[in-house]
Amino acid sequence: MMNPQYSRLIASGSALPSHHVSNAEMVERLAKQGIETSDEWIRSRSGIEARYFADTGVLTSDLATQAAHTALTQAQLSVEQIDLIIVATSTPDHMGSFPSTACIVQHKLGMKNGAPAFDVQAVCSGFVYALTVADALIKAGSARRALVIGAETFSRILDFSDRSTCVLFGDGAAAVILEASERPGLRASALHADGQHHDILCVPGSLTKGQLNGSGFVYMEGQAVFKLAVDVLSKVANEVLLKASCTIADIDWLVPHQANIRIMESTAKKLGIAPEKVIRTVAVHGNTSAASIPLALDAGRRDGRIQEDHTILIEGVGGGFTWGAAILTL
Ligand code: ACO
Repeated sequence: MMNPQYSRLIASGSALPSHHVSNAEMVERLAKQGIETSDEWIRSRSGIEARYFADTGVLTSDLATQAAHTALTQAQLSVEQIDLIIVATSTPDHMGSFPSTACIVQHKLGMKNGAPAFDVQAVCSGFVYALTVADALIKAGSARRALVIGAETFSRILDFSDRSTCVLFGDGAAAVILEASERPGLRASALHADGQHHDILCVPGSLTKGQLNGSGFVYMEGQAVFKLAVDVLSKVANEVLLKASCTIADIDWLVPHQANIRIMESTAKKLGIAPEKVIRTVAVHGNTSAASIPLALDAGRRDGRIQEDHTILIEGVGGGFTWGAAILTL
């Protein structure tokens, strides 16, 4: 049998934790620690109005499993019909992804067919990386249907005494199912990394003798991240357009990583994409790292904006530094 020419996205699903946290609640929470912030500052600098935080005991794998169930129901598939699971996350259930969150998800789904399951770590670019890996494995004939999940409990690594980071992130998960197809499909993707910038967005701590050595919280040099993000996102978008033999006129929707409304708007402007063609969920979800692109994609599909046959451009940038983009026709 010939290997398939494409993988195609056939379903998606989301999961958000029950605790909705408005900017007003963040202001109140920080004020108790003597830290000043405001709804106005958060909205104007980032576009964020609210985010969700997982309650104690709710793990990344719980959100990922819930999102996967929704996608499976939408596709009318049983778990046994999935033959690959990839979870993109920076907040795995276990230290060092050992064992991987994907394996825990496989177990929680009750999947017993021995399908490979592994995590991908590319921080906020994780979903684009994971999708590209799943596409390659499907086209190589190693899998027919893959669950690709972006899932985070980022609140676990937020330092609530650092107002410049803790107001920006949130928790959530979203899953998509990719299936082997002769019809396009994921048309092209492009991935990049530049490790020289590893220290401007990171969790600096490491493990020594089984103990955390250094900080286990997110550290971010916001302005440096901002400049790099705007620069690489438009470049990689143009690169993937070229690879897919598309022009910007072929793109129905831009589904960017939801880090910051200003980054999203300046990237869209640089690319010549009209603001109304940008799917934005940053206001309601905050930055959910690897989960942000699939959450936005699923929101756009559920509210009917993204429809079958539409072509979408997804792009993300994150710690590492990593970045990537992909073009998919649904
Ligand atoms: N509330 C009120 N004031 C604050 C807050 C806050 N929550 N946080 C910082 N400030 C203050 C600072 O202390 C500073 O005060 P000062 O001038 O008295 O020193 C002032 O606001 C301005 O701080 P800047 O850091 O210069 O603010 P900036 O306009 O750069 O906005 C931000 C900060 C939102 C982080 C911006 O740099 C940004 O968006 N960077 C990119 C972040 C990002 O997108 N990260 C994610 C990408 S990768 C990933 O998703 C993991």
